[in-house]
Amino acid sequence: MSAREIEEAGPRRLASALMASGALTPDWLPAFEAVRRDRFVPERLWPGRASGTVQGDCIERSADPVAWWDKVYSDIPLTTQWDDGAHAGTGKGSSPTSSNSMPRMVFSMLGALSVEPGNKVLEIGTGTGWNAALLAHRLGSGNVVTVEVDRANADEARRRFEVAGLSPLSVVGDGAQGYEPCAPFDRVIATCSIAELPYAWVKQSRPGGVIVAPWGPAYGGQGIVRLSVARDGMTASGPFVMSSAFMRLRDQRGTFPSRDACLGTEWPAGGCRRVSGLSPDDMGDWIHMFTIGVCVPGLFCRVEKREGGAYRLWLFDRATTSWATADYEKGRAEYAVVESGPRRLWADVEQVMGWWHGNGRPGFGRYGLTVTPGGQSVWLDAPGNAVPVVRGDAA
Ligand SMILES: C[S@@+](CC[C@H](N)C(=O)[O-])C[C@H]1O[C@@H](n2cnc3c(N)ncnc32)[C@H](O)[C@@H]1O
Repeated sequence: MSAREIEEAGPRRLASALMASGALTPDWLPAFEAVRRDRFVPERLWPGRASGTVQGDCIERSADPVAWWDKVYSDIPLTTQWDDGAHAGTGKGSSPTSSNSMPRMVFSMLGALSVEPGNKVLEIGTGTGWNAALLAHRLGSGNVVTVEVDRANADEARRRFEVAGLSPLSVVGDGAQGYEPCAPFDRVIATCSIAELPYAWVKQSRPGGVIVAPWGPAYGGQGIVRLSVARDGMTASGPFVMSSAFMRLRDQRGTFPSRDACLGTEWPAGGCRRVSGLSPDDMGDWIHMFTIGVCVPGLFCRVEKREGGAYRLWLFDRATTSWATADYEKGRAEYAVVESGPRRLWADVEQVMGWWHGNGRPGFGRYGLTVTPGGQSVWLDAPGNAVPVVRGDAA
């Protein structure tokens, strides 16, 4: 197909795929058609994959228009910035820091937001501006406020809004503060992920409002949570609706101590040795990571690859008091474990995985989150049923 052919047929093809998947509903179709994705994607992009967080090589529209159009009208995320803009050139930087999100995710989240005519919406994470433009088309520009921490991203999005004939209020600032001057909002949607839901989002929502945001613990794993704000406007609670892999809100990026800082000396550094029946390979999926991260606060992991698919999984606590290793090798039924420090981190994870199996191996749809002025808690099946949290010395 030529670039011209994709430009003409691409939107219809993508819309059909999104509708077939259930992500794009008929009420959002007019916005999808009017606010073309290609108008919100820059000249240079790094294509992602439908699953996973790995980016492909840079594609420049002027150099390879066919590839550019093909990626823009595929159901994949498109990375548009690395390292908060500090990275230049066509190579890949260390961390992707802005993107045009995957269309299936964009429309699933917009669907979960359940907007009604006249709703006032706050979006956190303007990025390329596509999501804010879709909202502005649906609800009217005057009803949409979008906050972006990175001035260059915001400026670029503003230019695109103008070309599209839309004018949502574009604010440069820390989205964790919400945007008080335009509160209260009927809906809040975040397109960067959080480990702590900023209470300002609850406070600036109307009673009965809805908050949709990607939430996940520092350990890993993440899902989209849909919270309803209570009548008193003080608390918000609701279920996770699907898994997700959004980049973090800037101030909530995890910074983890180095292995040497945690270990102190050469492995096994006097750690206690034992074997475990829990395979490191049976706790590496997104939902396992989410569950472990929620139940064992302060935990983070690193993987040391070895030959033939073998690897050593390292667990650390952020306070650097404790660590554990578990060695994975294909075909084994028992795995060599070393634990050190006041927290027995592998034992904590065994306990959590036992709880998860004992409760029918819940997926994201059975978890939920409640946010109050005093903090947040994750529950299973119902708000009263908080997940058990393993509180170590350093949690
Ligand atoms: C996945 S992109 C957003 C995609 C976007 N909604 C779109 O339609 O293209 C995440 C964005 O969140 C922004 N961001 C990160 N931390 C933020 C913060 N504290 N406040 C506002 N925006 C933030 C990033 O700079 C990035 O542009």
